[in-house]
Amino acid sequence: MRGRVVLGVSGGIAAFRAVEVLRLLVKAGCRVHPILTRNAARFVTPRTFAVLSGKVAQVSLWHGPTAPGIDHTDLSRVADLLLVAPATANVLAKMAAGVADDALTTYALAHRRAVVVAPAMNTVMWLQPAIREAMATLKARGVAVVEPVAGLLADGEVGDGKLAEPEVIAAAALDALPPAGPLAGLRVLVTAGPTRERIDAVRVISNRSSGRMGVALAEQARLLGAAVTVAAGPGVSVPAGLACERFESTADLEDLLARRAGAADVVLHAAAVADFRPATVAEGKLDRRAGGLALELAPTPDLAKGMPRPGGRPFLVIFAAERAADLEPRAARKLAEKGADAVVANPIDEAGLGMETPANRAVLLTRLGLRCELPAQGKDALARELLLALAGEILAAPGR
Ligand SMILES: Cc1cc2nc3c(=O)[nH]c(=O)nc-3n(C[C@H](O)[C@H](O)[C@H](O)COP(=O)(O)O)c2cc1C
Repeated sequence: MRGRVVLGVSGGIAAFRAVEVLRLLVKAGCRVHPILTRNAARFVTPRTFAVLSGKVAQVSLWHGPTAPGIDHTDLSRVADLLLVAPATANVLAKMAAGVADDALTTYALAHRRAVVVAPAMNTVMWLQPAIREAMATLKARGVAVVEPVAGLLADGEVGDGKLAEPEVIAAAALDALPPAGPLAGLRVLVTAGPTRERIDAVRVISNRSSGRMGVALAEQARLLGAAVTVAAGPGVSVPAGLACERFESTADLEDLLARRAGAADVVLHAAAVADFRPATVAEGKLDRRAGGLALELAPTPDLAKGMPRPGGRPFLVIFAAERAADLEPRAARKLAEKGADAVVANPIDEAGLGMETPANRAVLLTRLGLRCELPAQGKDALARELLLALAGEILAAPGR
């Protein structure tokens, strides 16, 4: 279990989006206890929250004469986090003032650990001095705020006050939970996707990498407790809530690694970096009327080999996309040549696997002699297995 979350839902038009937040938290392995205000229950039904959480969705403090225990104090002994999403102006003001006149605000007063709120309201309400002061008070008490965003609001106005995306709220909630899992406390940098090398002002050389394997590694590393940043190439779709920096060319990625790798404990270098780039970039747009075009290519720097790793830190995992026939010997050679801690080799010539597909298979080889065959499966499952197989060596690595 990733953690126990009390999900408070208050009575705003965005209450329906709390269903998605609940789903994401459950998917991440959290036990979620929903508490809805009476007004929230006018927008969304408690039954939806009960079914999706598998827990009682509390709306009233008064269950009837026979319910054992006292819900709010019992729950507060075991809950790691109170997340209120959406948080209405009313609930925020009550939380700041210590009012406890319903199940949610009473629970908020009894709660003992981290609190995250995701406000959502009309812009005028959000900018009211009363709400500004309530927010300042809550922040001063250590409440984390998932700031609302600008956008088209339910009342037709455009402005600040729109609930943040469910993915962003769920990520903030997971970040606020005590670290759990074998990678807890580790900072992981994942590179993902292709590079693009310019030929002229509009044309590029690139490759077919979708970045899906890198993104799967990033998501799974986070679920296993790591603090994760993704360095993502062009066209890679990175889920909201994952810290992300973009690169375009090999030179950009080299620069990004020089800035960021030193702060990481682990680099999962899954990006498909170009081996060659045009020796010169033509000015403007090359004209097709010139007839053919001969491109002179120059080698790009070897980023894995060149990564500064004083004292063997960060732990470096590289990826090798090779023909199935000589997958392992080539991967072993690459591991030795690049001085990496581990190599993940996957075939480029098996139907339905690898580049641009949702599935993959891999052989993992490590410097210390671990060999692990991971059969064909979805990239999320494969990423999790890879990280679990590597966790022991990562934790025993120098500099930890
Ligand atoms: C259609 C409708 C939409 C509303 N949307 C919001 C909202 O987005 N944010 C907000 O703070 N209040 C909103 N309100 C007002 C709250 O429902 C009202 O302040 C209520 O007392 C909040 O109760 P609760 O905080 O106990 O859930 C809305 C009211 C209505 C009728």
